[in-house]
Amino acid sequence: MVERRILVTAALPYANGPIHIGHLVEYIETDIWVRFQKLRGHRCIFICADDTHGTAIMMRARQEGRSEELVIAQMQQAHLQDFHAFDIEFDNYGSTNSVENRRLCGEFWQALRRVGLITERDVAQLYDPQAGTFLADRFVKGTCPKCRAAGQYGDNCDKCGATYRATDLIEPVSVLSGATPELRSERHLFVKLDELHEFLADWTQSGDHLQPEVANYLQGHFLNEPLKDWDVSRPAPYFGFEIPDSPGNYWYVWFDAPIGYMASTQQWCDRHGERFDDWWRDANVEIHHFIGKDITYFHTLFWPGMLKSAGFSLPTKVHIHGFLTVGGEKMSKSKGTFVTAETYLRHLDPTYLRYYYAAKLGPRLDDIDLNLDEFVAKANADLVGKVVNLASRAARFAETSGLSPTYPDDGGLFARAAAAGDDIAQAYEEGDFSRAMRLIMELADRANPYVEAAEPWNLAKDPRRAQDLQDVCTVALNLFRQLAIYLAPVLPRLARQTGELLQRPITRWDESQTPLLGNPVSRFQHMLKRVDRKDVDRMIEDSKQTPAEESAPTPAPSQPLLDEPLAPACTIDEFARVDLRIARVLAAEDVPEASKLLKITVSLGGTEQRTVFAGIKQAYRPEQLVGRLVVLAANLAPRKMKFGTSEGMILASGPGGSHVFLLTVDDGAEPGQRVH
Ligand code: MSP
Ligand code: ZN
Repeated sequence: MVERRILVTAALPYANGPIHIGHLVEYIETDIWVRFQKLRGHRCIFICADDTHGTAIMMRARQEGRSEELVIAQMQQAHLQDFHAFDIEFDNYGSTNSVENRRLCGEFWQALRRVGLITERDVAQLYDPQAGTFLADRFVKGTCPKCRAAGQYGDNCDKCGATYRATDLIEPVSVLSGATPELRSERHLFVKLDELHEFLADWTQSGDHLQPEVANYLQGHFLNEPLKDWDVSRPAPYFGFEIPDSPGNYWYVWFDAPIGYMASTQQWCDRHGERFDDWWRDANVEIHHFIGKDITYFHTLFWPGMLKSAGFSLPTKVHIHGFLTVGGEKMSKSKGTFVTAETYLRHLDPTYLRYYYAAKLGPRLDDIDLNLDEFVAKANADLVGKVVNLASRAARFAETSGLSPTYPDDGGLFARAAAAGDDIAQAYEEGDFSRAMRLIMELADRANPYVEAAEPWNLAKDPRRAQDLQDVCTVALNLFRQLAIYLAPVLPRLARQTGELLQRPITRWDESQTPLLGNPVSRFQHMLKRVDRKDVDRMIEDSKQTPAEESAPTPAPSQPLLDEPLAPACTIDEFARVDLRIARVLAAEDVPEASKLLKITVSLGGTEQRTVFAGIKQAYRPEQLVGRLVVLAANLAPRKMKFGTSEGMILASGPGGSHVFLLTVDDGAEPGQRVH
């Protein structure tokens, strides 16, 4: 067999939320395919990363009062932990917010400029004046312009299915602040995709790059008319990479995301002393992308167009899967079917889900339904009942004897199962895992009656039949091992356990073709327990959220933020115009005629003093203040009041009255120091 070189990617999960069982369809599917290729002896690398840029991450960071970098670093840790727990094994897991990605984005950009594919024009976009940001479609709600349903998002209507632009919404409201958005016009940069029309028409419709229904869909929905220019820039503020030759503009998250596949490959190459171009500019390397159907457009039109323009290899194949439903319905937080990877792991063994998805995944785009009864039944009947049972019923009788030195007569079972190997391999190769699982379970169905008829537990009672017993166990354990090899891409843990049991690790698909003979047999260790339906129910219960939690697309702003939304952005220079200083309170006295005011004298060091009237009487007594350090807005124009002139402002938070909180200053600060 010729060794293939295969680069495989799964879509980069967004860094603004945890991995859930919907995502896992894809990461498990891809992991199975990669493990299969590796088992076949091919050179295969599995590349992924977190998708970190965009408005959603920026808003989350703001709301949590943390930097974007911190938000994405913590989310990446969480993602990696989940993937690891589900035995999803990447060769490199990067981030789109990496130096490698910034450099590659620049390279793509220059190439697109060079071939004249970039154009500019003004775009009117909704802007939230309170949050100080432009609003992505999902951050605007309003009334559907078609059917007048209220509370619809800015891209499409849940009620009537219409798609429209956010600017078409009736009475739009910002999800971030509740403010009415303004229409603002800004310069955007576009890729003139239609200049690649001929190439894309040809690439999508020829070869085996796409599943037939995908090729048809693209032909019918996009390629029968001119392709629209693609808006690839966003004005500040935006969390992403600034476009080098267009200051103040950032690459739209979907521009840099697929380039993240390459940036992550670059990291892998650097670690392994490999050349990047040997993977992305070598016609002998196969490039396979696995994605969900919702992101078809980006991967089948835009991405090939970009690769073509920049002179990189085109994908060999884009494998597209359908969406996960649970019990025939969309995942729902209120019904408890929106299950995160973490919640799943608290209740169930990941092996069950890997097998269930494998049994459900075919080469087509149909949605995959997780039926909880079937989930329990399949794990128990197939994995425990047919596969693990085969080993557990024979292994303990072979512990002392080991396997026979020659393969006994098994009525042709092993040979038949060996012959089925090619068929099973082909099913894996084509992404028809459900067929592969069916074929493997058919083999298990033939192996089990052999053990039942041979009754090793009875043979074991008669010392004169020791040879028969060893032979029966040798057959049973070899048939079991064959299944474990065929299942190894799906069930890596079972493969490892089998390797330990028979003291020969499973490393190659071909090992299914010859029986293992004369090997010692280890003490049988428990392999997989039955699923308890109660654990499934507990997992669903644990996943339930109230409708209020569910409807909030982003964490709701806290009450203070609602009362007083964020001010529009200001520049550092604007900020610097306010001269904030450390000051020490020298004296504080009541102003008897005013209900709220205290008269406070502060020192700025040396002989510099200021007198300030502060509305904090209901919150602080004068004697509590004398001697403490405060922060003073020192260059405010003096303000004449009824009782005297106020020469500055002491900084405090809170709504007023008794709820006023002075800023404290850490020890060591000196009066007169500037606050930056
Ligand atoms: N960040 C983009 C992908 C960028 S690739 C250059 C994205 N991220 S995602 O987190 O929303 O989804 C990651 C993958 O998981 C996508 O391929 C998506 O289709 C898939 N799935 C997300 N939810 C899913 C289901 N409920 N069911 C099946 N797959 C789902 O899209
Ligand atoms: Zn509608």
